[in-house]
This record gives sequence, structure tokens and C-alpha cells, in this order.
Amino acid sequence: MNADKRLGKLKATDAAPPGGGYGEAAAAHNKSLSIHRWANWIAGFSGEFARNAILRYSQNDKGAVVLDPFVGVGTTLIEANRLGLDSIGFEINPFAALVCRVKLGVADVCLRQLRDGVQGYGNFMDDASSMEPQSLPPAEFRSRIPFFSPAVERKVLLTLDYINDLPTQIKDIFRVAFASVMVDFSNYSYEPSLATRPSAGKSLIADAEVARIMAAKLGDMVEDIAEFQQEAALRQAQDIRGNDSTDWRIHERSFFDAESCLDAASVDLVVTSPPYMNNYHYVRNSRPQLFWSGLVHSPSDLKPLEAGNFGKFWQTVRGDAPIPLTPQLPQLEQEIAEIRGINNDRGIYGGNGWANYVTSYMNDLDKFCGLLNQVLKPGGTAVVVVGNSIVQGHEIKVEERLCDIAELRGLSVLSVAKLRERVGSSIINSGARLRSRENSGLYDAAVALCRCRLPLQ
Ligand SMILES: C[S@@+](CC[C@H](N)C(=O)[O-])C[C@H]1O[C@@H](n2cnc3c(N)ncnc32)[C@H](O)[C@@H]1O
Repeated sequence: MNADKRLGKLKATDAAPPGGGYGEAAAAHNKSLSIHRWANWIAGFSGEFARNAILRYSQNDKGAVVLDPFVGVGTTLIEANRLGLDSIGFEINPFAALVCRVKLGVADVCLRQLRDGVQGYGNFMDDASSMEPQSLPPAEFRSRIPFFSPAVERKVLLTLDYINDLPTQIKDIFRVAFASVMVDFSNYSYEPSLATRPSAGKSLIADAEVARIMAAKLGDMVEDIAEFQQEAALRQAQDIRGNDSTDWRIHERSFFDAESCLDAASVDLVVTSPPYMNNYHYVRNSRPQLFWSGLVHSPSDLKPLEAGNFGKFWQTVRGDAPIPLTPQLPQLEQEIAEIRGINNDRGIYGGNGWANYVTSYMNDLDKFCGLLNQVLKPGGTAVVVVGNSIVQGHEIKVEERLCDIAELRGLSVLSVAKLRERVGSSIINSGARLRSRENSGLYDAAVALCRCRLPLQ
């Protein structure tokens, strides 16, 4: 599509209802939504957004298969499941994949067993005052300051002792509960990246009511599971296909390896948000959960997660020779050349590193669109949420570049909807990341793409 037509399309969507008609899209909204609220994750969009996108594009087809190639903690798959649709997710981060699996398993949880487990945990911690924990801190987990203060660490290790003795399904629910609250009683906090509390102007946590914090989280989870199972029973009574009859699968691997486990033309609808072009380091920021939940054991276990991450982290490409751009887009090539020319005197912090970062992101968007065109059924739709970015002071309209790349890969652009202004990090000058409050202009956009029904001539 040429630029004028694209402009026409963007103008048309400007007139659409606020947020493109997808409802409250902000991922922060998940904190108040049943099941979605279990674990914080930089999520891209809310449960309400995912539900509205599915309702709009699955055409109420009960046989539809929904895919999220970057499933995170499962916002899309939970909503597909609630709507009685089969779903598939890919997630490279084992902690996010665990949360997603546990959330999707709610239909099968034995509530009585879970309630007993929660009660038993309270009793165990009450009786544990003189006990020596059996569990040990993860041997190769390193932090700049002690991650937990000694009094907290003792309670954490006792909690892990209790979790280790639970039956598998209940154990995983407890693991998710623990992983989602553990930073709250640590000497670190999310700002939004993981930072020591003192560096964020907060005091160290000498002691904390670990058992009470865990019990509150588990209480929310029990409540949500009970509600989910009641809704499922109601749907079954009304003979509506529901969660217990839907299939879901989480592949704990990179979507770029999807060809080996996903058939061509097998997906009706994709609702997803790949990592944004803001260099948010999912792997580093989830190190505490990965190590303390026993999902990784050594820093070398993190390397494949970093290497396979969509878009590559700036830290891993900043020292490389210029990376060639794969999509043939002269305007984008020009944009990247401009970034490469900025702050050349700053070595790895200068333009070349950031140009490499942008290039690898665009190359991955290109691979992603190629895969979408393979796995979508003809006529299938993909709703992709991305954010614009400011790199070295240069704004990159990621949603527009995504449209260009998608069209090169044979997909059609159905709509582009600006969802909301967003607060986050923008990458401004040679490695300095400033808050968007100081540099307004960051936003999220939902791009709807469609695989043509007929092969392109
Ligand atoms: C913006 S988040 C998506 C969050 C998701 N919408 C949710 O509801 O939680 C992007 C996710 O992509 C994952 N990811 C990064 N590279 C990946 C890859 N190559 N394959 C699969 N997942 C990947 C990250 O770990 C992260 O969880």
C-alpha cells in the first residue's frame, strides 16, 4: 500500500471509537481482573482487549483456533479459553510459561485440595518458628546486594520446604503465588526494571510477613478458581462449549522454531504483542523468579533465552559490525542509517549499537510476518499490538513499519488503531533511558493484518 493510501487508512481509524473499539487496553487493567491478576508481567494489553479482539475477528466460530506467539502470562489464551476456543501459545521465558500453564489449568484444579494446602501452609509457618529450613538458596543466583534479608530468607526457605512437599498441581499454584510476590519482600523492586530498593530511594526490608503475603495471594487465586469453575459449570448446564472442552497448548520455546510444531494454515486468529522496541529485558527482570523457582540453575541457562528473544537486547548487538536489514524498505534503511550516524564518538553507546538494535528488531518483525503468513489460514486475521519508540531522539513508528513489512510478506493491513498514550521508557541518548513523562509521545497501537484468501499473483 502506498503512503497516501496508508494515510487514508490511518485517518479512517482516527475517526474510530477511542482505543479502536477494543475497550480498556492497558495491561495495568489486568491487576483488577480475575485470573489475569495472578502475576505482574509487562503484558502489552489487557484481558478486555484480548476478549474484544477475539470477539471481533473470530466471527463467533466455535471451531476457531487462536494463537499467541508471544504468550507471556497468557492474557490472550485465558480469554480464548473463556470463549470456548482452542488456543496455542509460544513463550521463551520458563517463568511466564509456568504462569500461563497454571492459569489455563484452572478448570482441573481440585479446590478442596487447594484449600487444604493453603490452610496447611498457614499452620506449617505458625509451627515453624524453631525449625531449620531444608531448602537452600539457588547456588548460582547472584545479586548486587543480598536479595532477601536474613529473617526474610529463612521464611522464604521454609515456604519452599512446604511447597516442595505438595502434590504437583497444587505445587505449581503455590510456585506461581510465591514467584509473583517474592520481590515484594525482597531488597529489590520493579521500577519498572528490577533495581535495588536503595537505588530507587526505598529502604531495605529487614523482615516481612511472608506467610501473610503468600496467604493473601493464594486467597485471591482460590477465589478466582472457584469463580472460573462456577462459570464453566453454568456454561456446561446451558450446553455452551466452555473451558473444560477446549484444547490449549503452551510451547515453551521461541516462536521462530514454530515450523516444527505448528502446521501451515492451521490458525484462524492471532492476538499478540511481541516485546516492544524499548529494550525491556524480560530475562534479566525475571531472574529472581527463574532461579528461586528452580526454573534455571546457572547464568548459562539464561543465554539461550537472551539469544532467542524477539528483537535481541541492545546489550547483545551494540558491539557488532553493522547488521544488514532483511526487509527491502529503502525508507527504513534510511531511518536506520540516520540513527547509525548519531553520537558516533560514544563507542558502544553511540548510534551504531542502537542502529543494530533497531535493525535486529525489524529483521525479527520480518521473520514474524513471514511465519504469520504461513500459519494463518487463508482469510485468517492477526491483531498485533506494538509501541512506537524513540531511539537516540529519533521516533520510530513501529506500527507503520510493521504494516510495510507485513505487506512485503503478503499480508493485508485491515486497520491501525492507536490504543492509548503510554508511560514507559524511551531510549533517547546514548544508552540513557528517560521516562516518557519527560518526553511525551509514546503510545500503543493495534495493527490488524489479514492473510489473503487467494495466493498473490
Ligand atoms: C509483550 S510480552 C507479551 C505479554 C502477553 N501479551 C501477556 O499477556 O502476558 C512479550 C513476550 O514475548 C516473549 N518472547 C520474547 N521473545 C520470544 C520468542 N522468540 N518466542 C516466544 N516468546 C518470546 C517474552 O518473554 C514476553 O513474555
